[in-house]
Amino acid sequence: MTHKEIEQCVDALMEQMTLEEKIGQINQASPATVCTLPGVEADIDSWVTEMMEGKISEQKLQERLAMCEENLRLDELEAGEIGCFVNLYDDAKLAQVIAASKKSRLQIPLLVGVDVIRGYRTIFPTPLAMASAWNPKLHRKLVKTAKKEAIVSGVNWVLGPMLDVARDGRWGRIVESPGEDPYLASVIAKEMVEEYHADDGDGPMICTAKHFAAYGAASGGQDYNTVSISTRQLYETYLPPFRAAVDAGVDCVMSAFHDLNGIPCVCDKELLTDLLRDEMGFQGFVVSDTEAVKQCVSHGISGDEAEAAKMSLLAGNDVDMTSYDYRNYLKKLVEDGQLEEEVIHTAARRVLEKKLEYGLFDKEYVYDPEKIRKIVLSEEHRAIAREVARQTIVLLKNEDVLPVREKKRILVIGELADDKEALTGPWAFTGDSGKTVTIVEGLQKNAPEGTEISYVKGFGVHDSREGFAEALEKAENADFIVAVAGETAFMSGEAASRADLHLSGAQEEFLLKLAGIDVPIEPLYPFGYGLSYTTFQYSELEVLTPEIRLDSELNCRVKVKNTGDCFGEEIVQLYIHDKVAGCVRPVKELKRFMKIALQPGEQKECEFSLPAAELGYYDRSCNYVVEPGTFDLYIGSNSSEGLHMEFKLK
Ligand code: BGC
Repeated sequence: MTHKEIEQCVDALMEQMTLEEKIGQINQASPATVCTLPGVEADIDSWVTEMMEGKISEQKLQERLAMCEENLRLDELEAGEIGCFVNLYDDAKLAQVIAASKKSRLQIPLLVGVDVIRGYRTIFPTPLAMASAWNPKLHRKLVKTAKKEAIVSGVNWVLGPMLDVARDGRWGRIVESPGEDPYLASVIAKEMVEEYHADDGDGPMICTAKHFAAYGAASGGQDYNTVSISTRQLYETYLPPFRAAVDAGVDCVMSAFHDLNGIPCVCDKELLTDLLRDEMGFQGFVVSDTEAVKQCVSHGISGDEAEAAKMSLLAGNDVDMTSYDYRNYLKKLVEDGQLEEEVIHTAARRVLEKKLEYGLFDKEYVYDPEKIRKIVLSEEHRAIAREVARQTIVLLKNEDVLPVREKKRILVIGELADDKEALTGPWAFTGDSGKTVTIVEGLQKNAPEGTEISYVKGFGVHDSREGFAEALEKAENADFIVAVAGETAFMSGEAASRADLHLSGAQEEFLLKLAGIDVPIEPLYPFGYGLSYTTFQYSELEVLTPEIRLDSELNCRVKVKNTGDCFGEEIVQLYIHDKVAGCVRPVKELKRFMKIALQPGEQKECEFSLPAAELGYYDRSCNYVVEPGTFDLYIGSNSSEGLHMEFKLK
């Protein structure tokens, strides 16, 4: 369908729709919990708070929970009051919900959204780990697999990719992010959006860039906390991946929970309309984060939920995710003359346009449990996830220990080595940790004949030292020790920030005892750092264009040789530094990278080109400027080592 045809269809639909039905399109619901105890309203969050405050006993809480039932809101769906759904991961129930929406008067298909952060049922490494692989093709593999599994399960809208650049390790959601670098995050954003849109027999699929904007800059690394940053920082560090997603045609953007410089994102017109739509050129619809509309009241920016609904919609937040404030208040606001009906039309149109663009009116979802069973978590998908996982491993130190050669007795130590849930990790709600192969199981299954793998718990993530003695004694008799330390699944993720980045409990203490060291070591590694089993040598950096003009590009090349005796992969990184500029520039700025594979002794020549237009920055008034001058060029293995040359922009 052409855009014009889509618009005509939307016009025709809108003519038939009542105001309630239009509001329905911008109301995103999730299953409700109802309590069957007479006179008790289901409010699980407050019940838990009451229990924690000692107002009710744990037994009382359990009694109430036992009397709770899930309500799929089928009546509301049949009445056309819900246009979008979220957070339902049960395929059979999802099918019921979809069928109910098809019974509505105008049979407008439902947008069924779920969080796909690390895959749908087949769980991939965390996004932060995936970013560490510096291999955008892996993100495409994840999307392809997740898309297949989600579509067969009835999902047509993904709440991802998560594109929040994050530089504070304490922020729990850093694990869900593409990391600290705007350029790398932008490359990932582009690849993922393009792959969601690829029509490869399964897709294309609607996807969402989230959370707009600068959620990763939460003060003190505390989740949901206020964000106070300069506009320059916003433009330079936090917007680039969103720009890349918008340029790739992303369908939806999620407004974030927090307040950015004093205004909650969900009701910030300058952010959602002036910047996102008018300046960046976004053309899809904006969805709020969960209940973010009603949180305008908690932020103290709206007097009540009706005002919160009005402010958010007027700011450009099209869909209300599960506050139900649009459903509850928009009609009354129109009737009272406080809101133009046209504002609702604009938002509803944006949702309908996507439903038409993606052909949802023509594609009838057919629930087929057998087909779902065959596709989700298939051997093929698991093999892809395993291959991707291998590439995300980061080797920081290796004093002739790896790869493991001819070890007879390998001892694995640590509670986490045998913990399925911890391995599945945060943001894997759709996964099934029962299917995870633990580190001990994996080693036992794959160890070459003659190698004995034994396991002792020894230490956990908590403060117990009970198992130390036994593990240290067993360690004496092992040829090789694999000690597994880290975090459980819920020690990071949403609402799970950390104040202290050391390993929790007595983990560090055990590791030091094991290594026979008594001084804690706190290694810091530069951005881009990582070893392999071999060594690489960089030589003959050449700048082919020592002087470039604004309309031309820098061309350069470097030779990289595998100087060790193992096959290895190297990430060749190109950084620049603008030596004198109108604003202080980063000491090193990543501009290009390339992952190459080299056999022992093999050498490759790596060529890079970089248009002069990409050498600019945002000035004090946030205008993008490209200034003449001299630039440093570095090419190497990470942001602190590399060959150096200069070039000039005339
Ligand atoms: C998260 C979003 C997510 C939404 C729906 C929120 O708490 O911040 O990233 O899409 O829940 O599950």
